[in-house]
Amino acid sequence: MSILPLREYPDPILHQKAQSVAKIDDEIRLFLDDMLETMYADRGAGLAAPQVGVSKRMIVLDAEQKEDEDGHHQKGHPMALINPEIIYKSEEKILFCEGCLSLPEQRADVERHQKIKVRYQDTNGSVKEIEAEDYLAVILQHEIDHLDGILYIDHLSRLKREMLLKKLQKAREQKAEKA
Ligand code: NI
Repeated sequence: MSILPLREYPDPILHQKAQSVAKIDDEIRLFLDDMLETMYADRGAGLAAPQVGVSKRMIVLDAEQKEDEDGHHQKGHPMALINPEIIYKSEEKILFCEGCLSLPEQRADVERHQKIKVRYQDTNGSVKEIEAEDYLAVILQHEIDHLDGILYIDHLSRLKREMLLKKLQKAREQKAEKA
């Protein structure tokens, strides 16, 4: 397995609609393993294929990972979803503070559906459905958005988005100065 290089805002691949995966084979399974390893290495809750430069409809996530008292990272329940689509959205919404590995060190409150149902293919190609609420539903909506070229900042008001992008730019300049 290997850790894949991350694409960051404003990389154009992050704004593209990703293509469906036609054939689920060993190459795809290996790629999903690499995506999971990359996600854990960067302490992300989820990762979408376009974030590692592949414009295909695949996401990975783990809503149950945590750090123990000694600060050691522990895997929870890794999931890999191929060609995921949201087939139900609750009317009820929730507000959740989100971050994204493609916009490092930034966070903002985003409104999402509280409960959703997602249809997808697993790594064997079987069609599955999952019902999710709260945190898991938020991660799924965030990652599936990536497959349509949508970032969480696209859900913010223009003012909030511009403020966040300014902070991102500042953080990058400070990092460049230190390096
Ligand atoms: Ni993201």
